Amino acid sequence: MIHLNTAGAGLMPDVVANAMLDCLHREVEYGAYETELHYEKILQQEVYKRIAALVGAPADDVAFFDSATRAWVRVVSRLDLKPGDKVWVSPYEYAGNLISLLALRERTGCVIETIPTTTTGDLDLEWMSAHVNGDVAFVSITHIPSGCGIVNPVAEIGRILAGHRAFYAVDACQSVGQVPIDVAAFGCALLTGAGRKFLRGARGTGFAYVAPELRAALQVETYDLHVARADSPTSYVVEDDSARSLELAERTTAAVLGFNAALDYMSTVDAYGNREVYQALRGMLAELPVEMIEPGTVHSGIASFRHATVSAERIRDGLAERGINGWKIHGDHTPIYMGERGIDTAVRLSVHYYNTLDEVAAAGRALAEILGA
Ligand SMILES: Cc1ncc(COP(=O)(O)O)c(C=O)c1O
Repeated sequence: MIHLNTAGAGLMPDVVANAMLDCLHREVEYGAYETELHYEKILQQEVYKRIAALVGAPADDVAFFDSATRAWVRVVSRLDLKPGDKVWVSPYEYAGNLISLLALRERTGCVIETIPTTTTGDLDLEWMSAHVNGDVAFVSITHIPSGCGIVNPVAEIGRILAGHRAFYAVDACQSVGQVPIDVAAFGCALLTGAGRKFLRGARGTGFAYVAPELRAALQVETYDLHVARADSPTSYVVEDDSARSLELAERTTAAVLGFNAALDYMSTVDAYGNREVYQALRGMLAELPVEMIEPGTVHSGIASFRHATVSAERIRDGLAERGINGWKIHGDHTPIYMGERGIDTAVRLSVHYYNTLDEVAAAGRALAEILGA
C-alpha cells in the first residue's frame, strides 16, 4: 500500500497504536477509571507539555480536544462581537470554520469579509496593511488548506495585525507536523490542529493554543468538572482558568495516550525534511494531462488536480485498485476559493516524510494508466 492521503489521516506509527492498545487492554483488565489513574501523569501533564513544545506555547495555554473543529468552536462560538465588527477570512477558509463564523454573524451581527488575493492567488498583504483598523475584531487564516497546497504567510500576517485590536486565529490542521509551528512567531491568539494528520496520532484527537487575553475575552458558556466546582446549589467556582477550562472532562484515554505517543515520536524524526518528495509529486503531476488546483507561490505536500473527463471518484478508485491511497475532495470543503472556480470535486494526493520518490513515481505510472495518458 502506498499512502498518499496524510491530509486525510496519516499512518499511525506502531508506538501510537501500541500505546492505545495497551490502554484498552488495561481498561478491560483493571477498569477505565483505574487506568486513567495509572496514566495520570501523562494525561494531566505530559501531553500538554508536548503540545506546548510543538507549537512554542506555555503549557497553560494549550488544551486537548477530540477534533480540530471542536477546538475551534469551543473558542470561536464564544467570541463576544458587536454588530458591525469585522471578521476577516481568507478564501482558503475551511468550511467547518466558516459555518461557525456564519453562525456567529447570525448571533452577533458581525460582518464577514474575504481577504482579496493577488493575481498569483497569494493573500494580498498590502490590502491587509492598508485596511486593518479597530473595526477588525477577528482574523482567521487557514495555514494550509485541505483542498490545495498553498502555504499562507501566517507570520507576516501576524506582523501586520500586531498592535491592532483583532484576535488572530490560525487553523494549523493541515500544517502541524508538516511545517514548523511557532505561535509566538505567528503572533496568533488562537491556533487549532488535529492529531490524526501530519502528526500521525489517532482519529478523535485535536488541540488548541488559546492566548490568555483571548480566553479572558470569551463569553462564558459552561465549565466542566475537571476545572470547576459547584460550591453551593446556586454558585460555582472555576479553579483552573488555563486553556483546559475550554475542554470537557470526558475523553477517550486511549486517544490521548496515542496522541502523546505520536508527539513523542514526532520529536525523533525529521518530519519537515521532505521537500524533495513534494517537488517530485508536483513534477509527476505536471507530466499528466490534468488541471492543477494550486494557487499561490509557496506550496506544501498537498497537491490537488482534476481531469477534464475522468471523474475524481474514478481516479481515486483506480488508484485504490493499484494499492495507492489518494482522496476525492469536495470543493465545498473550501467553499470560497473552490466555489469561485466552480470546482465540485478534485483528487488530492498528499505526501509526508515517510513517502519516497519511488512511491511518487509508482503513483505517476498508475495515474497515466487511469487517464489513458
Ligand atoms: C484545514 C482544515 N481545518 C480544519 C479541519 C477540521 O478538522 P477535524 O476534522 O479534526 O475537525 C480540517 C479537516 O480536514 C482541515 O483540513
